[in-house]
Amino acid sequence: AVERTLSIIKPDAVAKNVIGELYTRFEKAGLKIVAARMVHLSREQAEGFYAVHKDRPFFNDLVGFMTSGPVMVQVLEGEDAIRKNRDIMGATNPKEALAGTIRHDYAESIDANAAHGSDAPETAAQEIDYFFKADEICSR
Ligand code: CMP
Repeated sequence: AVERTLSIIKPDAVAKNVIGELYTRFEKAGLKIVAARMVHLSREQAEGFYAVHKDRPFFNDLVGFMTSGPVMVQVLEGEDAIRKNRDIMGATNPKEALAGTIRHDYAESIDANAAHGSDAPETAAQEIDYFFKADEICSR
């Protein structure tokens, strides 16, 4: 089915100047960028986005990292977009990410892991809603 997923290019990948490289990977996989914005997240925005992880031991480091510099936030649309995006990114821990995946190629650690992607249709809908109003998404 055609799906939408929320993607974030994290501060480490933005600092490495590989936004275009990651966009090319999304597009080559058949995913369309239908909304996008660069933002330097506030602590409140990052905590709200990752609220599901608030009791995890890594929460503070995660929020600290995600507010350390600007991120690029986008909605990707396409057939099986949620799984496709996760396949392109590779495993959360870059040490486990397969060769040719974004995290294998660009990530340094489980926190500085280059990109985020929604993990299921329900979370995708919530995460898209967190960053974009309906009229900011240009379906095509
Ligand atoms: P992300 O897909 O953005 O969702 C939550 C993030 O928490 C994850 O990527 C990692 O960057 C970070 N994280 C840090 N430690 C862990 C861990 N032990 N398990 C899962 N995610 C972690």
